[in-house]
Amino acid sequence: MSTLVIVGSQWGDEGKGKVTDYLAQQADVVVRSQGGNNAGHTIYFDGQKYALRSIPSGIFNPNIKNVMANGMVIDPKQMLEELHGLMERGIKDYQLFISNRAHIVLPYHKELDGAYESLKKDNKIGTTKRGIGPAYADKANRIGIRMGEFIHPEIFKLKLKNALELKNMELKMLGLEELEFETIYKEYSSYALELKKYVCDTSLLLEEELEKNSKILFEGAQGVMLCLDHGTYPYVTSSSPTGASVPLNCGVAPRHITDVLGICKAYTTRVGEGPFPTELSGDLAHYIREKGHEYGTVTQRPRRVGYLDCVALNYARRVSGINHLALMLFDVLSGIDSIKICYAYELDGKKIQTIPATNQEYSEVVPLYIEMPGWTEDISNVTSFEELPLNAQNYIRKIEELTKTKVSLFSVGPDRKQTIQMEELF
Ligand code: GDP
Ligand code: IMO
Ligand code: MG
Repeated sequence: MSTLVIVGSQWGDEGKGKVTDYLAQQADVVVRSQGGNNAGHTIYFDGQKYALRSIPSGIFNPNIKNVMANGMVIDPKQMLEELHGLMERGIKDYQLFISNRAHIVLPYHKELDGAYESLKKDNKIGTTKRGIGPAYADKANRIGIRMGEFIHPEIFKLKLKNALELKNMELKMLGLEELEFETIYKEYSSYALELKKYVCDTSLLLEEELEKNSKILFEGAQGVMLCLDHGTYPYVTSSSPTGASVPLNCGVAPRHITDVLGICKAYTTRVGEGPFPTELSGDLAHYIREKGHEYGTVTQRPRRVGYLDCVALNYARRVSGINHLALMLFDVLSGIDSIKICYAYELDGKKIQTIPATNQEYSEVVPLYIEMPGWTEDISNVTSFEELPLNAQNYIRKIEELTKTKVSLFSVGPDRKQTIQMEELF
């Protein structure tokens, strides 16, 4: 196995950053395949906490290549802030490559993201307001600007002029202030100058690495339930975080993608709007939210929390080709008397084991649970499966049984060291 895809198997924030950073120690290349700074990937090691947004989670390892692929939408200003922030903390020895086909996020994308959210009123998505949706829309509408164009002053000037003409009409129509070409051009040209040295054809780079049989880790952002195609549309993001999207988003042949590690919390969380069948409220929700520090990395919003949903997990496994699971934040479940796992839904009196395509139906499903005894022991220091209390071992075995997928790794704390890998993945 020389490639491994890291996929969020729920609604994002499953711990993809932590697992990518951990496995990056065994890799040659880490590739962020899609999304932008709507992602927040948290990493802890040596007593330090880092929250990455667009930068791949392999950045702390000077020996490996970090790629930001064509499937991403990159906010140059925020990305540079991220790089400068890392530099201030002594992280400056890295290898970074940005695809010349990745799209850039500009100020009007952020304005429009906020404006459409307000206009949607009760139907708002609850986006991160980072301009992600409008940037992907421009890509599809063929008025986006790509990195390879951005770093050429004359091409950027022309592209920005053309795009801004249309975008200002849109802003005006929405009752917003129009943006000035000169201001954006001047500011963003300086970012382009700084980013230029990283920009290249990353598909070519990956081909060379594949030929050398290098170990390549593809780091997805978001999660399958937020996928534009397979997620709980319209309460989704504007790209596809599935395993299937990796070849397209990175410019590699599909035959290179065989192994997909689904990152999964021991329970479920969701930020933003949309149905969430196993959602909890009351004391247990509070307990999990506080113990798991379930507040958004990007927006600081409290995350909605719920029991583990194996219908959603099996759906993610199916549409994303997940063949290994990483069970995260397992330590958070210590101290709960009795834990439920959803194994099916009921809809109109019928048992179903998939996600209905409409949110109307999805908001009507009733989760069916199995209930298992919990454990009281603190597990944050265990170093093997055998050290886990029997009920915690049974919880893992039950998930494997319900998903027909091996839990190959579990995590008992945010630190890199609090990771137990049970089989070779890579
Ligand atoms: P990502 O977007 O998938 O990378 O996940 P986030 O970083 O947004 O959210 C995961 C949160 O859980 C972060 O605050 C991590 O530091 C934290 N975390 C990851 N694994 C564990 C774990 O096993 N136990 C605990 N307590 N926290 C964890
Ligand atoms: P990581 O990679 C959790 C959610 C937003 C919103 C919806 C659309 O950290 O797991 P967007 O700004 O993308 O248009 O918002 O998607 N969302 C995430 N939720 N983790 C993420 O990324 C997310 N990225 C987007 O909250 O509901
Ligand atoms: Mg996150």
